[in-house]
Amino acid sequence: MRKKIVAGNWKCNTTVKEGVELAKSVNELVLTRGAKDVVVVLGTPFTHLNSVAESVDRNRIQIASQNCAAESKGAFTGEVSVSMIQSTGANYVILGHSERREYYNETSEILNKKLALILEQGLIPIYCCGEALTIREAGTQNEFVKQQLDETIFYLTEEQLLKIVIAYEPIWAIGTGKTATTQQAQDMLAYIRGLIAAKYSKSVAEEISILYGGSCSASNANELFSQPDIDGGLIGGASLKAEDFLSIINGY
Ligand code: PGA
Repeated sequence: MRKKIVAGNWKCNTTVKEGVELAKSVNELVLTRGAKDVVVVLGTPFTHLNSVAESVDRNRIQIASQNCAAESKGAFTGEVSVSMIQSTGANYVILGHSERREYYNETSEILNKKLALILEQGLIPIYCCGEALTIREAGTQNEFVKQQLDETIFYLTEEQLLKIVIAYEPIWAIGTGKTATTQQAQDMLAYIRGLIAAKYSKSVAEEISILYGGSCSASNANELFSQPDIDGGLIGGASLKAEDFLSIINGY
């Protein structure tokens, strides 16, 4: 059975103090009112990982970094390696977010190196994919997403693939308030699952959690999560408000 996952992506927001307060509020709400069958992940800035990891009940809340270095260690000033991330208590890494691809030139080649390191170290990657508006308008979103997957995760062995989580985030829906329609999200996730079934097997495809991201909110989570191929969400803006995030967690 694949997991239901709701992962917050705090992006470059909150100080450590604010982040710990937010994490404690989420923790309290999840422990008292959160759906028990949903894996809850907090994707915090690097600087917050350890303090947040120590502020929450780790039986209920998982911690993700939003990026990692493409090298395991050495003279790479300013970089944070996967083993450093792991040493904070974090166990997930958000990888290949469109903001990383677009603003920091993360190519598939770089993502492959990062992905290998994450899996080697036993952390769980949340691999992001998704098209820009021009591609959606041209109607070539399936080909575009297939190419992203072909260039990175479809290099993985079956055993490795079973360890990853995929998040489809159309760039035009991120932070814009313009969510993909439930049908658009379901269609793309079903398409991705179909690609996995063709490349690996139907049973592998059934095991992989695939999330939707992009203006997912307390008001639309319920409809999105009711779809057969949507296993949860990667949540930006709404993950910065504990009550909204809880509503999304309880959106199934
Ligand atoms: P958003 O961001 O929910 O604010 O649209 C989602 C994301 O970028 O992961």
